[in-house]
Amino acid sequence: MLSVSETNPFQAGAYMATFHRSRQKRGLWSSRLGFIMASAGSAVGLGNIWKFPYVTGMNGGGAFVLFYILCIFMVGIPLMLGEMVIGRHTHKNPVGAFRSLKGGAWTTVGWLGVTAGFVILSYYCVVAGWAVDYLWLALKGTFSSHHATEVPGLFVDLLESDLAQIFWQALFMGAVIGIVLGGVSNGLERANKVMMPILFLILLFMAVYGIFSPGGPTALRFLFSPEWSKLTPQSMLEALGQALFSLSLGMGAMLTYGSYSDEKTNLPYAAFSVSVMDSCVALLAGIAIFPIVFTYGMQPAGGPGLVFKTLPIIFSRMPAGSLFAVFFFLLLVFAALTSGISLLEVVVAYYCDEKKWSRRKATLLIGFLIFLLGVPSALSNSLLKDFHIIGDRNFLDSIDFLASNILLPLGGLLIAVFTGWVLTTRLAKSEIEKGAVRFHCYSVWHFLIKYITPILVALVFLHTIGLF
Ligand code: TRP
Repeated sequence: MLSVSETNPFQAGAYMATFHRSRQKRGLWSSRLGFIMASAGSAVGLGNIWKFPYVTGMNGGGAFVLFYILCIFMVGIPLMLGEMVIGRHTHKNPVGAFRSLKGGAWTTVGWLGVTAGFVILSYYCVVAGWAVDYLWLALKGTFSSHHATEVPGLFVDLLESDLAQIFWQALFMGAVIGIVLGGVSNGLERANKVMMPILFLILLFMAVYGIFSPGGPTALRFLFSPEWSKLTPQSMLEALGQALFSLSLGMGAMLTYGSYSDEKTNLPYAAFSVSVMDSCVALLAGIAIFPIVFTYGMQPAGGPGLVFKTLPIIFSRMPAGSLFAVFFFLLLVFAALTSGISLLEVVVAYYCDEKKWSRRKATLLIGFLIFLLGVPSALSNSLLKDFHIIGDRNFLDSIDFLASNILLPLGGLLIAVFTGWVLTTRLAKSEIEKGAVRFHCYSVWHFLIKYITPILVALVFLHTIGLF
């Protein structure tokens, strides 16, 4: 068996490639840490730093955050373990996994996942492109040469520039394709090990900075004191969708990563620690961003531009702000890369495994098609700004809504039902307890995934689409 080096999620790409050519040579993470780092790399991304703060702002704060945390524990953690169990038991991509375990209509669940990966990555690259643009601005020292009040306008300028957005989107997509295609050079592998903890530290620093700024107390109240009247069925669905999106669940990404873990890996420990890490990063991003919103009298419901309009204000004001800005956006781009590769990997794994395409063909062709689907998202605030699909949402926001709030909850629901009702207890328990792992909370988990997770997802989901 090949092994994936210890703290190196990226190398998975290379080993996965090998796997697709030959079942026997399928890759494995060499250690629990390697697997956890890869999964955390997939989970922590734009979802935490870009999306969580802005959907929290749009949904009124407090109550939304608490419901989000409830979703992490009742839906996220159980489902992550479920995906990992299915993945490791079958050692297959999502479509292959469901086909071999049960087949028939269940294979559609895998399909749903592959589709979701395709759709999500298309606009994910556009938003990541914004982060690359901001990295470029930071490198040029743009933030420190602007007055705090002018900084939010930089984002408006970016959204109006079609070419710039497509250029950065293409650049980011190119990097994702490059990594999935050939695995990663040593430098990038080692960088990952260092960069995630630094991102965490920078966010921690900015959160503390935020708490002690004039808007700090208001921000904490906004984030953590619930006004339950603001929790509408629509915002519950958004909280659920956000929890799934942030943890990379509901489409088989964790299933695919789980399929590269070996028998000794403690899956419950992995699912729990990845979920907790991911949630901490999201909350820290919120605590860093909302004090700026309140200090400068901005709108919490300012929408998808929130992180880009707020944090650079601080960079423009604090000592060594330019340097901080460079670090921050570099790390953000990096976090987005480790998530982007997990999205592409799911789709590529399917075409290599099931359709027997070469990895090169699958990666290049699929990558290019995903890029094309992303172009309308890149144009959604300029050329296509009057083109609304779902409600008053533009193209990007509509397909984000479609993916996060329809495809992922639907996928999550089906995966939970499959894990709780179709997989036998004997199979699930013996899979988890392979390699002398003791899982004392097995019955709690099984109860959650069998009843609570599907019921919660179904209620929220059916309610919003008007069936309940
Ligand atoms: N979780 C990532 C983020 O928060 C995005 C992501 C990566 C994802 N892989 C996924 C979302 C699979 C849903 C499904 O940015």
